[in-house]
Amino acid sequence: MKSDEIMDIALRRGFIYPSSEIYGGISGFYDYGHLGTLMRRKWEDTWRKHYLSLNPNYFEVDATNIMPKNVFIGSGHLENFTDPLTECEKCHSRFRADHLVEECLERCAEGLSAEEMSGLIKESEIPCPKCGGKLLDVKMFNMMFELSVGSTGDSETAYLRPETAQGAFLNFKRSFNTLRGKLPIGLAIIGRAYRNEISPRQGFYRLREFNQAELQIFFDPDTIDEHPDFEKIKDVSLRMFPLQNRSSGEVDEVKASELHKNYGIPKFYIYHLVKIQEFYLDKMNFPKELFRFRELSEDERAFYNKIHWDVELYTESLGGYKEMGGLHYRTDYDLSGHQKASGEKLEVNIEGKKMVPHVLELSFGVDRNFWTLLDVFYTDEGDRKLISLPKEVAPFRAGVFPLQKKEELENIAKNIYERLSKWFDLFYDDSGSIGRRYRRQDEIGTPFGITVDFQTIEDNTVTIRERDSMEQKRVKVEEIWKNI
Ligand code: GAP
Repeated sequence: MKSDEIMDIALRRGFIYPSSEIYGGISGFYDYGHLGTLMRRKWEDTWRKHYLSLNPNYFEVDATNIMPKNVFIGSGHLENFTDPLTECEKCHSRFRADHLVEECLERCAEGLSAEEMSGLIKESEIPCPKCGGKLLDVKMFNMMFELSVGSTGDSETAYLRPETAQGAFLNFKRSFNTLRGKLPIGLAIIGRAYRNEISPRQGFYRLREFNQAELQIFFDPDTIDEHPDFEKIKDVSLRMFPLQNRSSGEVDEVKASELHKNYGIPKFYIYHLVKIQEFYLDKMNFPKELFRFRELSEDERAFYNKIHWDVELYTESLGGYKEMGGLHYRTDYDLSGHQKASGEKLEVNIEGKKMVPHVLELSFGVDRNFWTLLDVFYTDEGDRKLISLPKEVAPFRAGVFPLQKKEELENIAKNIYERLSKWFDLFYDDSGSIGRRYRRQDEIGTPFGITVDFQTIEDNTVTIRERDSMEQKRVKVEEIWKNI
């Protein structure tokens, strides 16, 4: 199975490891190895460059992972951030009730209440998947991790943030005042989020501690149907999977301008759909057939969203199209909620016009994107396995190889490695046949191999081998940087 093959490379070569493995670990937690850390950082850097360049008033900020209880009263998470849970009377295993209903009854469970799910489980006598025992009534379970901050006596209840977004909302007023005092203003956070998922499944897909890259754009709601650059993107075709296509499974290719006319989606929202698609197709090189925007119904949308299309990529190892992120029109839900709960005024005054800004959120799960890159770009060609990662996210840009363990070759190779390491992440390898060294780099996605051989001593050229085509060319040492 593809998921086993990718997990095998990921573990064997150092992309990811189960967390706390020598103690047996807990499901839903993974660590990043040396390759995974490099690759994740590169994905985050590419994300940062792409989205923060959309507007000179978009910036990155950072916020704490632990926040007091009142934050989550204001955000609505304490009340609404729940999943339906059922427990086995006999073995006490716990399961996501909606997933069980969907799997056992082959129907959608989105939007069903706890009572309705309990009724379906009883009526259809769905047994415990582990021991066959009777399942108890469904209860709503809050997915946040609760903490106690401080010593006993004066301790305060706090939570690990379930999304990075809240940090941007809490710091909005200060950032607005410190920056230009203008809208739109964008605040991005890349960092950890925590959810006590009931049944983390599918390996790396549903985690309990994971990474998000989110951009909150605060804007004047009266300008939602305009964007200064809409003319530039109006002819771009977007891959849309609207609600009405659910039964056919077809993806429509719709021009940005038609999306506005026929679907009534506001221009500010459409502009960001285009930029998201550009990130996946042009920066990450995903084949376009694997990408789509999926419209969510009112029942499926998160409690804070008014317009919500998910970003999906076809991921074979996970069994089909999978959610990588979403474009969420959160209205003034968050700022108004925090304003009410904290008593702090979060409205702004732009040239005499007072308003609570609305929020458009671009939200992505870093780990899922990471896994899908490995999945989509992995190929087993029989005599070699390779991951054709885009060079921007490959852990190493190139391998540097002295053809043989001879001092004169090693000196040159080390010199090249040292000089180019200032600009690129490189891997120096002098062990084994050159063929094996190429294969080892192919398997971890390194786009280029730089080989120093006896001709290098004579004419100061090296061989550069390209990973996917395996083509080789000779290049002057001073010009390597232009060719990788
Ligand atoms: N701030 C909005 C928000 O958090 P979300 O749809 O709940 O929205 C955003 O999460 C993204 O975070 C998802 O599209 C997904 O990529 C990622 N994500 C959510 N839950 C996750 C989990 N348990 N494990 C890994 N990634 C997750």
